[in-house]
Amino acid sequence: MTSATVPTVLVLPGEGIGPEVVGAARQVLEHVLDRAGLDATLREHTVGLPAYERTGQWLPDPVRDDIDQVAQSPRGAVLFGASADEPIGELRSRYDLFANLRPARPLRALREISPLRPERLDGVDLLLVRELVSDVYYGRRRTGVDAGQRWAGQEMYYREDEIRRIVRCALRHAETRRGRLTLVHKANAIPDVFGLWLDVLAEEAPAHPHVEVQDMYADTMAMQMVLRPADFDVVVTSNLLGDVLSEITGAVCGSLGLLPSATLSPTGFALYEPVGGTAPDIAGTGRANPLGTIGSVELMLRHTFDAPRWADCLARAVERAVESWRTPDIAGPGKPPCTTDEMATAVREAFDAVVAEEETQR
Ligand code: NAI
Ligand code: MG
Repeated sequence: MTSATVPTVLVLPGEGIGPEVVGAARQVLEHVLDRAGLDATLREHTVGLPAYERTGQWLPDPVRDDIDQVAQSPRGAVLFGASADEPIGELRSRYDLFANLRPARPLRALREISPLRPERLDGVDLLLVRELVSDVYYGRRRTGVDAGQRWAGQEMYYREDEIRRIVRCALRHAETRRGRLTLVHKANAIPDVFGLWLDVLAEEAPAHPHVEVQDMYADTMAMQMVLRPADFDVVVTSNLLGDVLSEITGAVCGSLGLLPSATLSPTGFALYEPVGGTAPDIAGTGRANPLGTIGSVELMLRHTFDAPRWADCLARAVERAVESWRTPDIAGPGKPPCTTDEMATAVREAFDAVVAEEETQR
């Protein structure tokens, strides 16, 4: 690897449990890079509430300048924790981080903590592809008073190219997986916006003849994801519907704290973060589960580092670590809970064991 292509990872812990889970995941990342002999530049910055308290800015100017520069490179990445307010929305829109990939595959050792019966978890391996920089979240906002009644409106808006690029991204992923794509929408109640989504899907699908395409109403999908989650492969949807549906995948897997995500921009620049938020109810107690953030590091090893072998080793290390070590959210009956840092240490040790086994098999 030449120095020009060495990945740069900006570490932005944010607030709440962000610094705890990112601290743990950073340790794991550095350990993997060291063990794998992979080069990278890591720089950490304060953003969110602690930055605001110090500088009056959620995303201080020098941090924004650094991200601006790193975002030029397809080998640039951000490892983000969580923020209650900004800068997450600004990061998403400023860097056009449109494709939010949320894989959900229950860990074998954790089958008993899922609220679903174990047989319903057999074969569950889905990838939720959520559009992230448009929709009602960024729509025109208006408020007023009419006949003495306050009113409020926020517009749901999608432009054709915004839909097309996320649909294409989902089709490409379906092609490399089990070849099934489900578009989730609400075209019965919101016919213009979701009719456009369906039209774009119909236009794009023929270029992927090996992908079996279906569409489903979001309310039906919410039920089906619980009743038969194994039947879905890639699920593509809008920003708002994806926000809601991804928390169902958290419940299916056993805890929101387990879920990773990668968000890609058109240039390849990517932001990696756990699916959950700042978890104010447990922040500062050492109870946060770092596995969603460590899973985000696994996604980073795949996309930004193009190092699938090491990503696979890390995935196996996580499977192994949870056999004996579990934070309270996944501890289950009769298992003494561990802390955030102990979980990360267990993953590092399991990683070394997995790599040692792999090397003796070579
Ligand atoms: P949340 O995800 O922070 O918490 C929901 C529940 O899941 C809580 O009971 C929490 O303890 C649990 N949880 C979340 N992550 C966990 C982990 N790693 N380990 C163990 N348990 C975990 O969602 P909530 O409470 O709705 O939002 C709190 C704040 O976070 C809000 O201000 C929200 O806006 C923000 N948020 C930020 C996100 C981001 O930075 N990308 C994403 C989602 C929410
Ligand atoms: Mg959410």
